[in-house]
Amino acid sequence: MDYKKIIAQKLNIDGLSQQEIYSYIELPPNFDMGDYALPCFKLSKLLRRSPIQIAEDLKNNFVTDEFITECSAVNGYLNFKINRQGFASSLLDEIICSGDRYGSSDIGENKTICIDYSSINIAKPFHIGHLSTTVIGSALCKIFRFLGYKVVGINHLGDYGTQFGKLIVAFKKWSSIEQVEKGRLSELTRIYVKYHDEAKLHPEMDDEARHYFKLIEDGDKESNVLFEMFKRITLEEVDKIYKLLNVEFDSYAGESFYNDKMAPIVDELKEKNLLKVSDGASIVDLEEHDMPPCLILKSDGSTLYATRDIAAAVYRKNTYDFYKCLYVVAYQQNLHFKQFFKVLELMGKDWAKDMVHVAYGMVSLESGSMSTRSGNVVLLEDVINKTIEKAYAVIEEKNPNLKDKDKIAKAVGTGAVIFGALCNNKIKDIVFSYDRVLSFEGETCPYVQYTIARCNGVIAKSGEVGKFDKFDMTASEYAVISELGRFKDVVKAAGEKYEPSFVTRYAIDLATAFNKFYMECKIATAEQSVKNFRVALCKAVKITLTNALTLLGIQTVDEM
Ligand code: ARG
Repeated sequence: MDYKKIIAQKLNIDGLSQQEIYSYIELPPNFDMGDYALPCFKLSKLLRRSPIQIAEDLKNNFVTDEFITECSAVNGYLNFKINRQGFASSLLDEIICSGDRYGSSDIGENKTICIDYSSINIAKPFHIGHLSTTVIGSALCKIFRFLGYKVVGINHLGDYGTQFGKLIVAFKKWSSIEQVEKGRLSELTRIYVKYHDEAKLHPEMDDEARHYFKLIEDGDKESNVLFEMFKRITLEEVDKIYKLLNVEFDSYAGESFYNDKMAPIVDELKEKNLLKVSDGASIVDLEEHDMPPCLILKSDGSTLYATRDIAAAVYRKNTYDFYKCLYVVAYQQNLHFKQFFKVLELMGKDWAKDMVHVAYGMVSLESGSMSTRSGNVVLLEDVINKTIEKAYAVIEEKNPNLKDKDKIAKAVGTGAVIFGALCNNKIKDIVFSYDRVLSFEGETCPYVQYTIARCNGVIAKSGEVGKFDKFDMTASEYAVISELGRFKDVVKAAGEKYEPSFVTRYAIDLATAFNKFYMECKIATAEQSVKNFRVALCKAVKITLTNALTLLGIQTVDEM
Protein backbone atom coordinates (compact mmCIF):
# COMPACT_ATOMS: atom_id res chain seq x y z
CA MET A 1 0.00 0.00 0.00
CA ASP A 2 1.66 3.20 -1.17
CA TYR A 3 0.26 6.17 0.72
CA LYS A 4 2.11 8.69 -1.41
CA LYS A 5 0.34 7.24 -4.41
CA ILE A 6 -3.03 7.44 -2.73
CA ILE A 7 -2.43 11.10 -1.94
CA ALA A 8 -1.26 11.85 -5.47
CA GLN A 9 -4.39 10.19 -6.89
CA LYS A 10 -6.60 12.33 -4.71
CA LEU A 11 -5.01 15.61 -5.72
CA ASN A 12 -6.00 17.32 -8.93
CA ILE A 13 -3.52 19.95 -10.02
CA ASP A 14 -3.82 21.56 -13.44
CA GLY A 15 -0.79 20.95 -15.59
CA LEU A 16 0.76 18.30 -13.37
CA SER A 17 0.64 14.56 -13.93
CA GLN A 18 0.04 12.20 -11.06
CA GLN A 19 3.61 11.04 -11.45
CA GLU A 20 4.88 14.58 -10.93
CA ILE A 21 2.65 15.20 -7.95
CA TYR A 22 3.89 11.92 -6.49
CA SER A 23 7.49 13.02 -6.85
CA TYR A 24 6.78 16.29 -5.01
CA ILE A 25 5.31 14.61 -1.94
CA GLU A 26 7.80 14.50 0.92
CA LEU A 27 8.30 12.94 4.28
CA PRO A 28 8.47 15.86 6.72
CA PRO A 29 11.52 16.05 9.00
CA ASN A 30 9.25 15.50 11.97
CA PHE A 31 5.79 14.12 12.12
CA ASP A 32 4.11 16.71 14.38
CA MET A 33 2.30 18.38 11.50
CA GLY A 34 1.68 15.38 9.34
CA ASP A 35 2.94 12.09 8.00
CA TYR A 36 3.38 13.38 4.46
CA ALA A 37 3.58 16.87 3.01
CA LEU A 38 3.32 18.57 -0.33
CA PRO A 39 5.40 21.77 -0.44
CA CYS A 40 3.58 24.17 -2.72
CA PHE A 41 6.53 26.47 -3.48
CA LYS A 42 7.48 24.67 -6.65
CA LEU A 43 3.91 24.95 -7.91
CA SER A 44 3.76 28.70 -7.50
CA LYS A 45 5.17 29.56 -10.90
CA LEU A 46 3.00 27.05 -12.73
CA LEU A 47 -0.24 28.04 -11.00
CA ARG A 48 0.55 31.79 -10.70
CA ARG A 49 -0.57 31.95 -7.11
CA SER A 50 1.23 32.17 -3.81
CA PRO A 51 2.21 28.86 -2.18
CA ILE A 52 -0.01 29.77 0.79
CA GLN A 53 -2.99 30.29 -1.48
CA ILE A 54 -2.30 27.07 -3.40
CA ALA A 55 -2.08 25.01 -0.20
CA GLU A 56 -5.30 26.61 1.04
CA ASP A 57 -7.19 25.85 -2.20
CA LEU A 58 -5.94 22.30 -2.41
CA LYS A 59 -6.97 21.70 1.18
CA ASN A 60 -10.47 22.99 0.57
CA ASN A 61 -10.96 20.54 -2.28
CA PHE A 62 -9.41 17.55 -0.57
CA VAL A 63 -11.75 14.79 0.56
CA THR A 64 -10.37 12.66 3.39
CA ASP A 65 -11.06 8.94 3.58
CA GLU A 66 -10.14 5.84 5.57
CA PHE A 67 -6.50 6.03 4.41
CA ILE A 68 -5.79 9.76 4.43
CA THR A 69 -7.55 10.99 7.49
CA GLU A 70 -6.56 14.64 7.73
CA CYS A 71 -5.40 17.39 5.42
CA SER A 72 -4.27 20.83 6.55
CA ALA A 73 -2.57 23.85 5.00
CA VAL A 74 0.30 25.46 6.91
CA ASN A 75 2.68 28.11 5.54
CA GLY A 76 2.62 26.90 1.95
CA TYR A 77 2.68 23.23 2.88
CA LEU A 78 -0.18 20.84 2.42
CA ASN A 79 0.09 18.34 5.29
CA PHE A 80 -1.52 14.93 5.47
CA LYS A 81 -2.18 12.58 8.30
CA ILE A 82 -2.72 8.99 7.39
CA ASN A 83 -4.29 6.01 9.02
CA ARG A 84 -1.09 4.94 10.73
CA GLN A 85 -2.40 1.65 12.00
CA GLY A 86 -3.63 0.60 8.60
CA PHE A 87 -0.32 1.62 7.09
CA ALA A 88 1.73 -0.18 9.73
CA SER A 89 -0.15 -3.47 9.50
CA SER A 90 -0.16 -3.66 5.74
CA LEU A 91 3.50 -2.63 5.53
CA LEU A 92 4.71 -5.10 8.14
CA ASP A 93 2.75 -7.87 6.43
CA GLU A 94 4.25 -6.95 3.12
CA ILE A 95 7.83 -6.86 4.42
CA ILE A 96 7.58 -10.11 6.33
CA CYS A 97 5.96 -11.87 3.35
CA SER A 98 8.40 -10.49 0.79
CA GLY A 99 11.53 -11.21 2.87
CA ASP A 100 14.67 -10.85 0.81
CA ARG A 101 12.61 -9.44 -2.08
CA TYR A 102 11.31 -6.50 -0.04
CA GLY A 103 12.23 -3.31 -1.89
CA SER A 104 12.69 -5.04 -5.23
CA SER A 105 10.74 -4.17 -8.32
CA ASP A 106 10.26 -5.12 -11.95
CA ILE A 107 10.80 -1.71 -13.54
CA GLY A 108 13.83 -3.11 -15.35
CA GLU A 109 12.07 -6.05 -16.91
CA ASN A 110 13.43 -6.90 -20.38
CA LYS A 111 16.15 -4.29 -20.15
CA THR A 112 19.86 -4.98 -20.00
CA ILE A 113 22.39 -2.73 -18.34
CA CYS A 114 26.12 -3.17 -18.95
CA ILE A 115 28.28 -1.96 -16.09
CA ASP A 116 31.99 -1.49 -16.73
CA TYR A 117 33.66 -1.32 -13.33
CA SER A 118 36.80 -2.09 -11.38
CA SER A 119 38.54 -2.53 -14.76
CA ILE A 120 41.96 -3.05 -13.23
CA ASN A 121 45.28 -2.87 -14.97
CA ILE A 122 47.25 -6.08 -15.30
CA ALA A 123 50.47 -6.29 -13.28
CA LYS A 124 49.61 -3.25 -11.18
CA PRO A 125 48.97 -3.49 -7.46
CA PHE A 126 45.33 -3.37 -6.37
CA HIS A 127 45.37 -0.28 -4.20
CA ILE A 128 42.70 1.77 -2.49
CA GLY A 129 42.39 3.96 -5.59
CA HIS A 130 40.49 1.02 -7.11
CA LEU A 131 38.17 0.61 -4.17
CA SER A 132 35.53 3.14 -5.27
CA THR A 133 35.01 1.85 -8.79
CA THR A 134 34.92 -1.71 -7.47
CA VAL A 135 32.39 -1.22 -4.71
CA ILE A 136 30.25 1.41 -6.49
CA GLY A 137 30.09 -0.74 -9.62
CA SER A 138 29.33 -3.88 -7.68
CA ALA A 139 26.58 -2.15 -5.67
CA LEU A 140 25.04 -0.77 -8.87
CA CYS A 141 25.00 -4.28 -10.35
CA LYS A 142 23.14 -5.56 -7.31
CA ILE A 143 20.77 -2.58 -7.18
CA PHE A 144 19.82 -2.85 -10.85
CA ARG A 145 19.30 -6.60 -10.58
CA PHE A 146 17.02 -5.94 -7.60
CA LEU A 147 15.10 -3.50 -9.80
CA GLY A 148 14.52 -6.25 -12.34
CA TYR A 149 17.18 -5.37 -14.92
CA LYS A 150 19.41 -7.92 -16.51
CA VAL A 151 22.94 -6.78 -15.62
CA VAL A 152 26.22 -7.57 -17.33
CA GLY A 153 29.13 -6.72 -15.05
CA ILE A 154 32.27 -6.15 -17.09
CA ASN A 155 35.87 -5.95 -15.91
CA HIS A 156 37.45 -4.12 -18.86
CA LEU A 157 40.98 -5.24 -18.04
CA GLY A 158 43.86 -2.93 -18.83
CA ASP A 159 45.84 -5.62 -20.59
CA TYR A 160 47.17 -3.75 -23.59
CA GLY A 161 50.05 -1.35 -24.06
CA THR A 162 53.81 -0.92 -24.12
CA GLN A 163 53.98 -1.35 -20.36
CA PHE A 164 53.77 -5.10 -20.99
CA GLY A 165 56.81 -4.83 -23.26
CA LYS A 166 58.54 -3.00 -20.42
CA LEU A 167 57.58 -5.73 -18.01
CA ILE A 168 59.06 -8.40 -20.27
CA VAL A 169 62.33 -6.46 -20.53
CA ALA A 170 62.40 -6.03 -16.76
CA PHE A 171 61.50 -9.67 -16.19
CA LYS A 172 64.33 -10.89 -18.40
CA LYS A 173 66.84 -8.64 -16.68
CA TRP A 174 65.91 -8.97 -13.04
CA SER A 175 63.42 -11.72 -12.36
CA SER A 176 62.44 -15.31 -13.01
CA ILE A 177 59.32 -17.44 -13.13
CA GLU A 178 60.07 -18.70 -9.60
CA GLN A 179 60.44 -15.19 -8.27
CA VAL A 180 57.20 -14.04 -9.88
CA GLU A 181 55.26 -17.06 -8.66
CA LYS A 182 56.54 -16.40 -5.18
CA GLY A 183 56.44 -12.61 -4.98
CA ARG A 184 53.26 -12.24 -7.08
CA LEU A 185 52.12 -8.67 -7.68
CA SER A 186 54.73 -7.16 -5.44
CA GLU A 187 57.45 -8.79 -7.54
CA LEU A 188 55.86 -7.40 -10.70
CA THR A 189 55.67 -3.97 -9.08
CA ARG A 190 59.28 -4.23 -7.96
CA ILE A 191 60.60 -4.88 -11.46
CA TYR A 192 58.25 -2.31 -13.01
CA VAL A 193 59.49 0.40 -10.65
CA LYS A 194 63.09 -0.67 -11.28
CA TYR A 195 62.49 -0.51 -15.02
CA HIS A 196 61.43 3.12 -14.76
CA ASP A 197 64.45 4.05 -12.68
CA GLU A 198 66.83 2.34 -15.10
CA ALA A 199 65.14 3.58 -18.25
CA LYS A 200 65.84 7.14 -17.18
CA LEU A 201 69.55 6.34 -17.57
CA HIS A 202 69.15 3.95 -20.51
CA PRO A 203 66.40 5.27 -22.78
CA GLU A 204 67.23 2.57 -25.34
CA MET A 205 65.39 0.16 -23.06
CA ASP A 206 62.16 1.72 -24.27
CA ASP A 207 62.92 0.59 -27.84
CA GLU A 208 63.40 -2.91 -26.57
CA ALA A 209 60.11 -2.67 -24.68
CA ARG A 210 58.27 -1.55 -27.81
CA HIS A 211 59.80 -4.47 -29.65
CA TYR A 212 58.51 -6.94 -27.07
CA PHE A 213 55.08 -5.39 -27.05
CA LYS A 214 54.96 -5.81 -30.83
CA LEU A 215 55.94 -9.45 -30.35
CA ILE A 216 53.00 -9.93 -27.98
CA GLU A 217 50.68 -8.42 -30.53
CA ASP A 218 52.12 -10.51 -33.34
CA GLY A 219 51.46 -13.68 -31.40
CA ASP A 220 55.08 -14.53 -30.55
CA LYS A 221 54.97 -17.60 -28.33
CA GLU A 222 57.55 -16.77 -25.66
CA SER A 223 56.31 -13.20 -25.13
CA ASN A 224 52.73 -14.36 -24.89
CA VAL A 225 53.57 -17.02 -22.34
CA LEU A 226 55.06 -14.30 -20.13
CA PHE A 227 52.19 -11.92 -20.77
CA GLU A 228 49.65 -14.62 -19.90
CA MET A 229 51.55 -15.35 -16.71
CA PHE A 230 51.43 -11.67 -15.68
CA LYS A 231 47.74 -11.70 -16.39
CA ARG A 232 47.04 -14.91 -14.50
CA ILE A 233 49.00 -13.80 -11.44
CA THR A 234 47.19 -10.46 -11.37
CA LEU A 235 43.76 -12.06 -11.70
CA GLU A 236 44.52 -14.66 -9.04
CA GLU A 237 45.58 -11.94 -6.64
CA VAL A 238 42.67 -9.57 -7.25
CA ASP A 239 40.24 -12.44 -7.16
CA LYS A 240 41.03 -12.92 -3.47
CA ILE A 241 39.97 -9.35 -2.86
CA TYR A 242 36.90 -9.64 -5.08
CA LYS A 243 35.83 -12.66 -3.04
CA LEU A 244 36.21 -10.75 0.23
CA LEU A 245 34.22 -7.85 -1.17
CA ASN A 246 31.51 -10.07 -2.74
CA VAL A 247 32.30 -8.72 -6.16
CA GLU A 248 31.60 -10.72 -9.31
CA PHE A 249 31.84 -10.17 -13.04
CA ASP A 250 30.07 -11.64 -16.02
CA SER A 251 32.85 -10.73 -18.41
CA TYR A 252 36.58 -10.11 -18.24
CA ALA A 253 36.86 -8.94 -21.84
CA GLY A 254 39.68 -6.44 -21.51
CA GLU A 255 41.38 -4.06 -23.87
CA SER A 256 43.32 -6.75 -25.75
CA PHE A 257 40.05 -8.55 -26.49
CA TYR A 258 39.37 -5.77 -29.00
CA ASN A 259 42.64 -6.20 -30.95
CA ASP A 260 40.84 -7.68 -33.93
CA LYS A 261 37.74 -5.54 -33.55
CA MET A 262 39.27 -2.13 -34.17
CA ALA A 263 40.07 -2.34 -37.88
CA PRO A 264 36.37 -2.35 -38.85
CA ILE A 265 35.85 0.70 -36.62
CA VAL A 266 38.70 2.55 -38.29
CA ASP A 267 37.24 1.64 -41.69
CA GLU A 268 33.82 2.86 -40.66
CA LEU A 269 35.28 6.16 -39.43
CA LYS A 270 37.04 6.55 -42.77
CA GLU A 271 33.90 5.74 -44.75
CA LYS A 272 31.94 8.29 -42.79
CA ASN A 273 34.62 10.90 -43.45
CA LEU A 274 35.29 11.37 -39.79
CA LEU A 275 38.98 10.51 -39.80
CA LYS A 276 41.56 13.23 -40.34
CA VAL A 277 45.31 12.94 -40.50
CA SER A 278 47.15 15.35 -38.25
CA ASP A 279 50.93 15.13 -37.71
CA GLY A 280 50.77 11.60 -39.08
CA ALA A 281 48.19 10.50 -36.51
CA SER A 282 44.55 9.73 -37.34
CA ILE A 283 42.08 11.73 -35.31
CA VAL A 284 38.44 12.68 -35.10
CA ASP A 285 38.27 16.44 -34.97
CA LEU A 286 35.97 17.58 -32.16
CA GLU A 287 36.69 21.30 -32.31
CA GLU A 288 33.09 22.04 -33.23
CA HIS A 289 32.11 20.36 -29.98
CA ASP A 290 34.64 22.31 -27.93
CA MET A 291 36.87 19.35 -27.26
CA PRO A 292 40.39 18.40 -28.25
CA PRO A 293 40.57 15.78 -31.03
CA CYS A 294 39.97 12.13 -30.23
CA LEU A 295 43.07 10.13 -31.16
CA ILE A 296 42.27 6.94 -33.08
CA LEU A 297 45.63 5.82 -34.51
CA LYS A 298 49.16 6.93 -33.66
CA SER A 299 51.50 7.80 -36.51
CA ASP A 300 52.93 4.26 -36.37
CA GLY A 301 49.43 2.89 -36.88
CA SER A 302 48.96 1.62 -33.32
CA THR A 303 45.62 2.05 -31.61
CA LEU A 304 44.77 3.97 -28.45
CA TYR A 305 42.68 3.66 -25.31
CA ALA A 306 39.80 5.50 -27.04
CA THR A 307 39.97 3.27 -30.12
CA ARG A 308 39.52 0.24 -27.91
CA ASP A 309 36.69 1.86 -26.00
CA ILE A 310 34.84 2.67 -29.22
CA ALA A 311 35.25 -0.92 -30.40
CA ALA A 312 34.15 -2.19 -26.99
CA ALA A 313 31.01 -0.04 -27.00
CA VAL A 314 29.99 -1.30 -30.45
CA TYR A 315 30.72 -4.86 -29.39
CA ARG A 316 28.62 -4.48 -26.25
CA LYS A 317 25.71 -3.00 -28.17
CA ASN A 318 25.82 -5.87 -30.69
CA THR A 319 26.27 -8.55 -28.05
CA TYR A 320 23.98 -7.40 -25.25
CA ASP A 321 21.71 -4.86 -26.94
CA PHE A 322 21.98 -2.77 -23.78
CA TYR A 323 19.42 -0.28 -22.59
CA LYS A 324 22.23 1.58 -20.83
CA CYS A 325 25.97 1.10 -20.71
CA LEU A 326 27.61 2.50 -17.58
CA TYR A 327 31.27 3.24 -16.94
CA VAL A 328 32.18 3.56 -13.29
CA VAL A 329 35.42 5.49 -13.64
CA ALA A 330 36.97 8.44 -11.74
CA TYR A 331 36.12 11.93 -12.97
CA GLN A 332 39.76 12.30 -13.99
CA GLN A 333 38.68 10.60 -17.22
CA ASN A 334 35.71 12.91 -17.87
CA LEU A 335 37.14 14.18 -21.14
CA HIS A 336 37.95 10.71 -22.47
CA PHE A 337 34.34 9.61 -22.03
CA LYS A 338 32.87 12.79 -23.46
CA GLN A 339 35.12 12.43 -26.48
CA PHE A 340 34.43 8.86 -27.38
CA PHE A 341 30.69 9.16 -26.66
CA LYS A 342 30.70 12.06 -29.12
CA VAL A 343 32.59 10.03 -31.72
CA LEU A 344 29.96 7.29 -31.48
CA GLU A 345 27.26 9.91 -31.93
CA LEU A 346 29.04 11.32 -35.00
CA MET A 347 29.24 7.78 -36.38
CA GLY A 348 25.45 7.84 -36.30
CA LYS A 349 24.99 5.41 -33.41
CA ASP A 350 21.70 6.60 -31.99
CA TRP A 351 22.40 4.56 -28.85
CA ALA A 352 25.32 6.85 -27.96
CA LYS A 353 22.81 8.66 -25.74
CA ASP A 354 22.55 5.53 -23.60
CA MET A 355 26.20 5.62 -22.59
CA VAL A 356 26.77 6.99 -19.11
CA HIS A 357 30.00 7.89 -17.40
CA VAL A 358 29.30 7.31 -13.71
CA ALA A 359 32.07 9.52 -12.38
CA TYR A 360 33.32 9.39 -8.82
CA GLY A 361 35.83 11.36 -6.76
CA MET A 362 39.50 10.66 -6.35
CA VAL A 363 41.15 8.97 -3.43
CA SER A 364 44.41 10.40 -2.22
CA LEU A 365 46.62 9.69 0.74
CA GLU A 366 47.51 12.08 3.51
CA SER A 367 50.99 11.85 2.02
CA GLY A 368 49.79 12.99 -1.42
CA SER A 369 48.42 11.31 -4.50
CA MET A 370 49.04 7.65 -5.17
CA SER A 371 51.53 6.41 -7.71
CA THR A 372 52.58 2.85 -8.45
CA ARG A 373 55.91 4.00 -9.84
CA SER A 374 56.94 5.91 -6.77
CA GLY A 375 55.58 3.21 -4.49
CA ASN A 376 53.25 5.65 -2.72
CA VAL A 377 50.25 3.33 -2.51
CA VAL A 378 48.09 1.75 0.15
CA LEU A 379 47.19 -1.79 -0.85
CA LEU A 380 43.56 -2.72 -0.57
CA GLU A 381 44.45 -6.12 0.80
CA ASP A 382 46.36 -4.50 3.69
CA VAL A 383 43.42 -2.23 4.49
CA ILE A 384 40.97 -5.12 4.52
CA ASN A 385 43.26 -7.29 6.64
CA LYS A 386 43.74 -4.50 9.15
CA THR A 387 40.02 -3.87 9.52
CA ILE A 388 39.40 -7.58 9.99
CA GLU A 389 42.11 -7.71 12.67
CA LYS A 390 40.63 -4.70 14.39
CA ALA A 391 37.15 -6.26 14.30
CA TYR A 392 38.59 -9.40 15.83
CA ALA A 393 40.26 -7.41 18.59
CA VAL A 394 37.02 -5.59 19.39
CA ILE A 395 35.14 -8.91 19.60
CA GLU A 396 37.83 -10.35 21.89
CA GLU A 397 37.42 -7.37 24.15
CA LYS A 398 33.65 -7.04 24.20
CA ASN A 399 32.26 -10.48 23.52
CA PRO A 400 35.02 -13.11 23.88
CA ASN A 401 32.60 -16.04 24.04
CA LEU A 402 31.04 -15.34 20.67
CA LYS A 403 30.88 -18.32 18.30
CA ASP A 404 32.47 -18.07 14.82
CA LYS A 405 34.66 -15.11 15.75
CA ASP A 406 36.67 -15.39 12.53
CA LYS A 407 33.66 -15.34 10.32
CA ILE A 408 32.11 -12.41 12.13
CA ALA A 409 35.35 -10.43 12.16
CA LYS A 410 35.57 -10.93 8.40
CA ALA A 411 32.02 -9.72 7.80
CA VAL A 412 32.51 -6.71 10.06
CA GLY A 413 35.96 -5.79 8.76
CA THR A 414 35.14 -6.01 5.05
CA GLY A 415 31.77 -4.41 5.68
CA ALA A 416 33.50 -1.42 7.25
CA VAL A 417 35.70 -0.98 4.18
CA ILE A 418 32.82 -1.24 1.69
CA PHE A 419 30.43 0.90 3.68
CA GLY A 420 33.12 3.53 4.28
CA ALA A 421 33.72 3.81 0.55
CA LEU A 422 30.00 4.09 -0.19
CA CYS A 423 28.80 6.41 2.50
CA ASN A 424 29.44 9.75 0.82
CA ASN A 425 28.09 11.09 -2.39
CA LYS A 426 30.28 9.38 -4.99
CA ILE A 427 31.66 12.50 -6.64
CA LYS A 428 33.38 13.70 -3.46
CA ASP A 429 37.14 13.38 -3.26
CA ILE A 430 38.35 11.29 -0.37
CA VAL A 431 41.57 11.51 1.59
CA PHE A 432 42.11 8.00 2.81
CA SER A 433 42.78 7.58 6.50
CA TYR A 434 43.25 4.37 8.41
CA ASP A 435 41.76 6.01 11.49
CA ARG A 436 38.53 6.57 9.68
CA VAL A 437 38.02 3.05 8.29
CA LEU A 438 39.08 1.57 11.58
CA SER A 439 36.63 3.64 13.57
CA PHE A 440 33.61 1.53 14.36
CA GLU A 441 31.78 4.30 16.18
CA GLY A 442 28.92 6.43 14.87
CA GLU A 443 27.52 6.12 11.36
CA THR A 444 29.40 3.03 10.29
CA CYS A 445 28.72 -0.45 9.04
CA PRO A 446 29.33 -2.18 12.39
CA TYR A 447 26.57 0.04 13.79
CA VAL A 448 24.13 -1.26 11.17
CA GLN A 449 25.29 -4.86 11.57
CA TYR A 450 24.96 -4.52 15.32
CA THR A 451 21.39 -3.27 14.89
CA ILE A 452 20.53 -6.39 12.88
CA ALA A 453 22.09 -8.58 15.57
CA ARG A 454 20.00 -6.69 18.13
CA CYS A 455 16.78 -7.39 16.17
CA ASN A 456 17.80 -11.01 16.03
CA GLY A 457 18.21 -11.14 19.77
CA VAL A 458 14.65 -9.91 20.27
CA ILE A 459 13.24 -12.29 17.67
CA ALA A 460 15.08 -15.30 19.12
CA LYS A 461 13.92 -14.54 22.63
CA SER A 462 10.27 -13.97 21.85
CA GLY A 463 9.56 -17.08 19.80
CA GLU A 464 6.50 -17.19 17.54
CA VAL A 465 4.23 -14.22 18.14
CA GLY A 466 0.61 -13.83 17.14
CA LYS A 467 -1.23 -11.08 15.32
CA PHE A 468 -1.48 -7.62 16.74
CA ASP A 469 -4.67 -5.62 16.49
CA LYS A 470 -5.57 -2.06 17.23
CA PHE A 471 -2.97 -0.08 19.11
CA ASP A 472 -1.66 3.44 19.32
CA MET A 473 1.84 3.85 18.06
CA THR A 474 4.40 5.89 19.94
CA ALA A 475 6.28 8.53 17.96
CA SER A 476 9.39 6.38 17.83
CA GLU A 477 7.46 3.34 16.64
CA TYR A 478 5.89 5.33 13.85
CA ALA A 479 9.28 6.79 12.89
CA VAL A 480 10.51 3.24 12.27
CA ILE A 481 7.41 2.41 10.22
CA SER A 482 7.86 5.52 8.14
CA GLU A 483 11.52 4.67 7.44
CA LEU A 484 10.59 1.10 6.52
CA GLY A 485 8.04 2.36 4.03
CA ARG A 486 10.64 4.48 2.27
CA PHE A 487 12.99 1.68 1.26
CA LYS A 488 11.50 0.99 -2.18
CA ASP A 489 11.80 4.62 -3.22
CA VAL A 490 15.36 4.74 -1.92
CA VAL A 491 16.43 1.75 -4.02
CA LYS A 492 14.78 3.21 -7.09
CA ALA A 493 16.41 6.59 -6.57
CA ALA A 494 19.81 4.94 -5.98
CA GLY A 495 19.43 3.29 -9.39
CA GLU A 496 18.19 6.42 -11.12
CA LYS A 497 21.01 8.56 -9.79
CA TYR A 498 23.65 5.80 -9.86
CA GLU A 499 24.19 6.56 -6.20
CA PRO A 500 24.68 3.60 -3.82
CA SER A 501 25.28 6.11 -1.03
CA PHE A 502 21.48 6.58 -0.89
CA VAL A 503 21.26 3.01 0.36
CA THR A 504 24.12 3.50 2.84
CA ARG A 505 22.52 6.65 4.26
CA TYR A 506 19.20 4.90 4.42
CA ALA A 507 20.65 1.99 6.41
CA ILE A 508 22.01 4.48 8.94
CA ASP A 509 18.68 6.33 9.15
CA LEU A 510 16.68 3.15 9.65
CA ALA A 511 19.15 1.80 12.22
CA THR A 512 19.04 5.11 14.09
CA ALA A 513 15.23 5.18 14.13
CA PHE A 514 15.19 1.58 15.30
CA ASN A 515 17.68 2.12 18.10
CA LYS A 516 15.70 5.08 19.38
CA PHE A 517 12.59 2.90 19.46
CA TYR A 518 14.55 0.12 21.15
CA MET A 519 15.74 2.46 23.91
CA GLU A 520 12.29 3.90 24.48
CA CYS A 521 9.99 0.91 24.21
CA LYS A 522 9.89 -2.27 26.26
CA ILE A 523 9.37 -5.38 24.22
CA ALA A 524 9.55 -8.56 26.31
CA THR A 525 7.42 -7.17 29.12
CA ALA A 526 4.89 -5.30 27.01
CA GLU A 527 1.25 -6.29 26.89
CA GLN A 528 0.78 -9.18 24.40
CA SER A 529 -0.71 -7.37 21.44
CA VAL A 530 1.83 -4.53 21.75
CA LYS A 531 4.61 -7.05 22.10
CA ASN A 532 3.43 -8.79 18.94
CA PHE A 533 3.60 -5.53 17.07
CA ARG A 534 7.07 -4.69 18.38
CA VAL A 535 8.47 -8.11 17.52
CA ALA A 536 7.01 -7.78 14.01
CA LEU A 537 8.71 -4.40 13.80
CA CYS A 538 12.05 -6.04 14.72
CA LYS A 539 11.52 -8.66 12.02
CA ALA A 540 10.76 -6.04 9.41
CA VAL A 541 13.79 -3.96 10.39
CA LYS A 542 16.04 -7.00 10.23
CA ILE A 543 14.76 -7.87 6.75
CA THR A 544 15.06 -4.35 5.43
CA LEU A 545 18.53 -3.66 6.84
CA THR A 546 19.71 -7.04 5.57
CA ASN A 547 18.39 -6.25 2.10
CA ALA A 548 20.08 -2.84 2.16
CA LEU A 549 23.46 -4.28 3.18
CA THR A 550 23.14 -7.09 0.66
CA LEU A 551 22.67 -4.53 -2.12
CA LEU A 552 25.97 -3.01 -1.04
CA GLY A 553 27.74 -6.38 -1.02
CA ILE A 554 27.98 -6.49 2.77
CA GLN A 555 27.38 -9.58 4.87
CA THR A 556 25.24 -9.54 7.97
CA VAL A 557 25.80 -11.47 11.17
CA ASP A 558 23.27 -13.01 13.54
CA GLU A 559 25.23 -12.14 16.63
CA MET A 560 27.95 -9.68 17.35
N1 ARG B 1 41.90 0.51 -16.70
C1 ARG B 1 41.49 1.89 -16.72
C2 ARG B 1 42.23 2.68 -15.65
O1 ARG B 1 42.68 2.11 -14.68
C3 ARG B 1 40.02 2.07 -16.49
C4 ARG B 1 39.16 1.51 -17.56
C5 ARG B 1 37.76 1.99 -17.46
N2 ARG B 1 36.89 1.44 -18.46
C6 ARG B 1 36.90 1.80 -19.73
N3 ARG B 1 36.11 1.15 -20.56
N4 ARG B 1 37.62 2.78 -20.18
O2 ARG B 1 42.34 3.88 -15.79
